[in-house]
Amino acid sequence: MKKLFSLLILATSVSYGYCQSVATISINNDNSKLTISRHIYGQFSEHLGHCIYGGFWVDPKLAVAKQDRIRLDIVDALKKIKIPNLRWPGGCFADEYHWRDGIGPRTQRPKMVNTNWGGIVEDNSFGTHEFLELCGLLKCEPYISANVGSGTVEEMSKWVEYLNFDGESPTTAIRKLNGHPAPFKVSFLGVGNESWGCGGSMTPQFYTDQFRRYATYARNYPGAPLKKIASGANSFDYNWTETFMKNASLGMVWGLTLHYYTIPTGSWGDKGSATNFSEQEYFATMKNCLKMEELVTKHGAIMDKYDPEKKVAMVVDEWGIWTNVEPGTNAGFLFQQNSLRDALIAGTTLNIFNNHCDRVKMANLAQSINVLQALILTDKEKMLLTPTYHVFDLYKVHQDAKYLPIKLNSPDYVEGNDKIPALNVSASIDSNKAIHISLVNLDANKSIRIRTELKDLKWSTISGQILTSNKLTDINTFENPGKLKIAGFSGAKREGNELVADLPAHSIVVLELK
Ligand code: AHR
Repeated sequence: MKKLFSLLILATSVSYGYCQSVATISINNDNSKLTISRHIYGQFSEHLGHCIYGGFWVDPKLAVAKQDRIRLDIVDALKKIKIPNLRWPGGCFADEYHWRDGIGPRTQRPKMVNTNWGGIVEDNSFGTHEFLELCGLLKCEPYISANVGSGTVEEMSKWVEYLNFDGESPTTAIRKLNGHPAPFKVSFLGVGNESWGCGGSMTPQFYTDQFRRYATYARNYPGAPLKKIASGANSFDYNWTETFMKNASLGMVWGLTLHYYTIPTGSWGDKGSATNFSEQEYFATMKNCLKMEELVTKHGAIMDKYDPEKKVAMVVDEWGIWTNVEPGTNAGFLFQQNSLRDALIAGTTLNIFNNHCDRVKMANLAQSINVLQALILTDKEKMLLTPTYHVFDLYKVHQDAKYLPIKLNSPDYVEGNDKIPALNVSASIDSNKAIHISLVNLDANKSIRIRTELKDLKWSTISGQILTSNKLTDINTFENPGKLKIAGFSGAKREGNELVADLPAHSIVVLELK
């Protein structure tokens, strides 16, 4: 039986509340053979500031529940949102990390200077075994970024052997001595990070040749095939993608990365405050955030040229808002607060990835704890869930669900002489036939009425959840950690065959139709 339904959403232009505009959304279930990979909802943990130390990995004396030194309230919170993978150890840190320093008895591990992030001493107490223990607790897949910038082919090759080889060798003997006889069977392997910058300042052609060489010796051991992920472009550097796709031996490549950060002011100098910003700056931030759509489309078009069957994944393994650090904190630790604006960025970006799930198979928010657009902030034994965390909680329904293609005609959000689409949306249908539609109203002032004509769609109940707050600058604090949290959404109803919903200004709504 042919399963075809279409969904028309009309936001009328008649006066309603502050003002209404027109949007049309059509969803066609018939052509949707694609899955929204759960790995789009991946996270990133670097040896940077208090992401690892003071985040995941705490002082043995800290009065919180722990396994070894892994903080379990954080583990529980991340398990709740089903994080599918965790990238480690960097970032820029990865290209100065030497894995052999992070194994064996902790008291005997050499220390190093973390030159990228604050020049602090890294004691290597959190290494390969600790990271993989963390992933086991989180029930997520490890994604290890290996050192190309300052490491050798031999070093990467032996790390893979240490991780994945089930037989006898001098390297696996050391793993056994360190308490892990069985291979870890790691699958995701990053071959360098930002090789155009902190990962070695390489040209695209030089990196492509290096990738071919390093990837050759990152072996696929029996039962442990690797998904090798190449270091891709910085933002709008299309030449990097073109050169790599043209010259790499694509059979070796599982994925190619893209890094893009939303910087409120657009300047790497004064990036703007995380908590103190005007509506104009909010608008500019969202305009910058929406450039992800252009980036994914244009890098994707280049990839299509060399890989029309879309075998190579686009891996956006660093994304999020990057602001000035919180006043009084270490500039090298990249600690920033997280407001409703961050949540709107997360909802919008995840909608973009969902809608490009034919090519985007993996993404990693930067970063999970206490760094940049974090999910969780900690202060000694205290922790709080950020607005961004709540978006990942709302959107987890899309993980591994069948993608429903959407055509959207959005009303504009106008600021001065400029405008951006006010509404963005993505939709999926899960294995229980529940349909989820995630809608983000970016307009700072206007609600959007959605009137939806549903055709060939059988549904009888509708429910929803919402994340919003009075002000765009609202945040969760250790004193008031529940200021922004998910609430039930009663603004959607069925009228005849239509779905009608009123999306408040600056809100994220996820509807469930059953
Ligand atoms: O996420 C912070 C840094 O941003 C990463 O270490 C690096 O890859 C990027 O430049």
